[in-house]
Amino acid sequence: MTRHFLNLADAGAEALSAILNDALARKVARQGWPKGRADGDAPLKDHTLGMIFEKNSTRTRVSFEMAMRQLGGDAMFMAAGQMQLGRGETVADTARVLSRMVDAIVIRTDDHAKVEELAAYSSVPVINGLTDLSHPCQIVADLLTILEQGKALPGLEVAWLGDGNNVLASIIEAAGLMKFNVRAGCPKGYEPDADFVAQARAQGARIDIIADATAAVDGADIVVTDTWVSMGQDHAHNKIAAMFPYQVNEALMAKAKPDARFLHCLPAHRGEEATDAVLDGPQSLIWDEAENRIHAQKSILLWALGLL
Ligand code: CP
Ligand code: NVA
Repeated sequence: MTRHFLNLADAGAEALSAILNDALARKVARQGWPKGRADGDAPLKDHTLGMIFEKNSTRTRVSFEMAMRQLGGDAMFMAAGQMQLGRGETVADTARVLSRMVDAIVIRTDDHAKVEELAAYSSVPVINGLTDLSHPCQIVADLLTILEQGKALPGLEVAWLGDGNNVLASIIEAAGLMKFNVRAGCPKGYEPDADFVAQARAQGARIDIIADATAAVDGADIVVTDTWVSMGQDHAHNKIAAMFPYQVNEALMAKAKPDARFLHCLPAHRGEEATDAVLDGPQSLIWDEAENRIHAQKSILLWALGLL
């Protein structure tokens, strides 16, 4: 069975733990090394990753390229608009062709159904590099960043502020798998995907959707936010106005636990979803979180290729 990574549930709790442990171990083992040097075991020597991007990216693209380099393999970037996919070749035919040429495929696109279709017709692993629905690779890096702080995942209180978007959907999915709780402080009309919420609750996670931002953050271990306007969305003035009470500023951070940490997948819109004082403040882990994208991608790739 080809292992696809379209959502965290494709791996499941046990494999997700294995991915996190492998990522932590590989990161420690190469501390102080030049960034482009391959890990000692070079487990993806002779392997190539194809990367289809239909949307902009800095972290996801660069982290997958560096991940392949550190695993001893190669990565190939394909801007979707310059592929035949961009002028009507079907997703299914693209999948069939790339399966003959590369060993795994990462795709960043809008409609999640496209990623599912690519996976359905691909005989090599397909990894979701972000869709409008979810962003599972980001959350592996986030969990890694939390674990590095010595915080255990079960029972952790994670507060989300702002738009109930793709990143929140994957955090909620992770909560169900790893048994932590989420208080989503979202304005009315911008709540997270109901299916992800129902699934995580069924797995025993407490997922609260709270309209009051202060109540959402109260006593939290981790405070997370993301842009109010995701790629492909309009910069609608009424949405921005609805989001401002959920801005993560120093006053709101002060409601979380004193040792609470702040995460943001980036790119940040400074002065909107979070202030400079929080993004650059002592509780912020955003640069560790960004670096951890590399370490997370490596172990996701190894799992997808059956090496973990
Ligand atoms: N966090 C994240 O996915 O960043 P990019 O859009 O730069 O890839
Ligand atoms: N929610 C954001 C995440 C960017 C990494 C978006 O989809 O644009």
